[in-house]
Amino acid sequence: MTSPRTTAPGTPPGQGTPSLAVSLDATHLHPGVTDPVMDSMRLLSETAFRYPDAISFASGRPYEEFFAFEDLHRYLDRFVADLRDRGLPEERVKRAVFQYGPTNGVIRDAVARMLATDESIHTTPDSILITHGCQEAILVALRGLFVSPDDVLLTVSPCYVGVTGAAKLLDIPVEAVPERAYGLDPEDVAAVAHRVRSAGKRPVACYVTADFANPSGHSLPLSARRRLLEVAEEHDLLILEDNPYGLFGRAGEQLPTIKALDDSRRVIYLGSFAKTAFPGARVGYLVADQPVVSADGSARPFAEELAKVKSMVTVNTAGIAQAVIGGLLAESGYSLRAATRRLADLYVGHLDLTLACLAEHFPPEDFATHGVRWNVPTGGFFLLVETPFDVDIPALERSARDHGVAWAPMRMFYVGEGGANVIRLGFSSLTRDEVREGIHRLAEFIRASSKG
Ligand SMILES: Cc1ncc(COP(=O)(O)O)c(C=O)c1O
Repeated sequence: MTSPRTTAPGTPPGQGTPSLAVSLDATHLHPGVTDPVMDSMRLLSETAFRYPDAISFASGRPYEEFFAFEDLHRYLDRFVADLRDRGLPEERVKRAVFQYGPTNGVIRDAVARMLATDESIHTTPDSILITHGCQEAILVALRGLFVSPDDVLLTVSPCYVGVTGAAKLLDIPVEAVPERAYGLDPEDVAAVAHRVRSAGKRPVACYVTADFANPSGHSLPLSARRRLLEVAEEHDLLILEDNPYGLFGRAGEQLPTIKALDDSRRVIYLGSFAKTAFPGARVGYLVADQPVVSADGSARPFAEELAKVKSMVTVNTAGIAQAVIGGLLAESGYSLRAATRRLADLYVGHLDLTLACLAEHFPPEDFATHGVRWNVPTGGFFLLVETPFDVDIPALERSARDHGVAWAPMRMFYVGEGGANVIRLGFSSLTRDEVREGIHRLAEFIRASSKG
């Protein structure tokens, strides 16, 4: 007989009074609930919340000073005005905002125009699925692609926790492609795909962020983007390209996304408006233009098939949120690259300032902080600092409590072991003064911890 999933009514562990309530046995719950990895983000934010006066480099939140209520109203008005201008009857205009909506979304045309303008990704609206943030796009894409326990997801490691977390929720096995000091090497993807196949399994897709990755800040050079597409072809892989930070590089230094180079529909592109607009909208999207051929020979873009998955997760993305993003896109002339240039310059300025402060506080000739090194991303929200000692949640707690500065321990982003002595600094939500003071405090924490 298998052991019971519930504990009979009685005295719950650690509580004095007997209760009539049933309790659940954690060992019988899904790892999506019980695996400590699933709790890492909560632990991180809890630590940051416990020390509200600490300067926090722990998150990837966007800068808040440009948020304005009047923008929300203007974007919404613009969206509604555009629908009316197109001759839509008033009841349909109302419905678009107030009602349940089509699962695949009401702003697909606008997103298609934006992708053509900003990324030279030329796709049709029916290949786009509007999602509840990029996180849902990841979950939905994984659900559609992975069928058997032998289907393996390759992911760069360290990796955005939302991907490994979603894979865990769906019981999808993950194989790490370890990042090198310079970032992801496509030959490593080939080697891991080969190893997986040699073990009798199927490497289905590889998750990558080509521009300013979370957490490492690394970007793929153009040659690596091209080579990755060849590797995908050679090993029959799909590429899941996630690109929330791509607009936040230096002016004029933009590289084509992998999707823009993709002639054979190897890439499913995952997009987010959380950083380019604001996370409160919870709007993202995916581009999945791969034709799915049915038994009767008809074909529909994969995005339309994935809409079935989304319909069972969130039904449809909130009409109000889509309307606001749709209005923003229309107002920007369907170019968020142009509309976010001021923001991008601010982030690049923060990156440069963080790097300058690190150089000032950790000069190479300083013996006490010998071993403190950092990478030099060319854009995005994050960079990595290597410390001469191990860093974990208790170390973060000490740093926040005793030195007033918080950050993210890198070990939580690894598939398996790694990053024991590395921290991720996210500078996007801070002011310039906070960046200066924060790095000063970080230097004090590192000096204090190096002595011990
Ligand atoms: C790499 C990456 N992908 C996806 C997401 C999730 O985006 P969204 O907020 O649109 O769900 C994030 C959020 O920080 C991220 O860093």
